[in-house]
Amino acid sequence: MRVTEGQVEIAVPEQSGEGVGDEVFFNPVQELNRDLTVAVLRALRDRVMDGGRTPTYLDATAASGIRGVRAAADGWDVTCCDVDSEAVALCRSNLARNDCEGEVVRRDASALMHERGFDVVDVDPFGTPIPFADAAVRSAGRLCCVTATDTAPLCGAHFESGVRRYSAVPRNTEYHAEMGVRVLCSALVRTAARYDVAATPVLSHATNHYARTYLRLESGARAADARINELGSVDHCEHCLYRETTPGLLADPLDACPRCGEGIQTAGPVWLGRTCDPEFVAAVRERVSADMGTADRARDLCERLAGELATPTHYDQHRLCKRWGVGARAMDDFLDALRAAGHDASRTHYGGTTFKTDADVDEIRAATVE
Ligand SMILES: C[S@@+](CC[C@H](N)C(=O)[O-])C[C@H]1O[C@@H](n2cnc3c(N)ncnc32)[C@H](O)[C@@H]1O
Ligand SMILES: [Zn+2]
Repeated sequence: MRVTEGQVEIAVPEQSGEGVGDEVFFNPVQELNRDLTVAVLRALRDRVMDGGRTPTYLDATAASGIRGVRAAADGWDVTCCDVDSEAVALCRSNLARNDCEGEVVRRDASALMHERGFDVVDVDPFGTPIPFADAAVRSAGRLCCVTATDTAPLCGAHFESGVRRYSAVPRNTEYHAEMGVRVLCSALVRTAARYDVAATPVLSHATNHYARTYLRLESGARAADARINELGSVDHCEHCLYRETTPGLLADPLDACPRCGEGIQTAGPVWLGRTCDPEFVAAVRERVSADMGTADRARDLCERLAGELATPTHYDQHRLCKRWGVGARAMDDFLDALRAAGHDASRTHYGGTTFKTDADVDEIRAATVE
């Protein structure tokens, strides 16, 4: 079947089931992910790169090559890589179909990335990206783009596999999607730091059933140390939703909730720093173009991301109101009430009734329940 995305048209096999067949993989639901990637590449090139030479982009796990073809059509010097011979053939024909130049390699992506550097490396594999992480942070000169579709391990719903894959303790809290983003960022920041590379998340989102993060990379032990200092733990009480964060790799978990005395769950090391750079996200938003199928959603997502407070956890108004046995309010009224009581408050992209605030649970209730 033919698929048009952005400026390109590609051919992909009909997908049987949910991408579980033998054919080369293509998921139309990830169009938002790919549209944002193109806008991120534009923002990076315009803002950060000198323009002296054509920047290089590796589509490391390319499948149909849709990411690589879109980047090539946008003026990048593209390499598509896949281990699967049918995928490699499809990448070639999809580049040619769009009159795009590009190198196509049948190779294990990690082997290629250990050998060669690219300005931008994009790892969009099945499930966890961790098997590619070491090679990716060594290969990428400027930016490493990473998708993880194993959200259950990431957010602690599949606890043991989360611990194994991410060398972190994830906890399945009410803010599980944010937990997943922060566990993913933590693992990638620690991976980069091993090579004296500082990885800084400049745009991250949890959408549908995946987490996606874009990390700016910079060489230097001191900068890498600074990123490590943004890791820490989250103590969370599922009983009353009390939470507190502690910087540092050595967790010193609370024995009991200081608010209600119940047990505490501790997650870490998680990334406690910003998961987005609001200025970069604003620049990405400006570069979402009308030819993108998800242009409105992509712009809305960027707006939401740029406006999110930097707190490492969030709340859900509906869940709080249910606990309190009170009716929910319109989100804007709810946030205005928090602000009127002197607190910072923002919506989040994690859900329509989610919000971030510097207020604690009691302060939220005092400010919003009449
Ligand atoms: C989820 S698909 C990629 C989807 C694609 N990026 C897109 O946006 O449509 C993952 C691809 O990774 C490939 N793959 C799996 N292991 C690999 C490896 N070690 N090196 C390179 N490619 C690999 C698979 O053959 C598959 O085509
Ligand atoms: Zn408690």
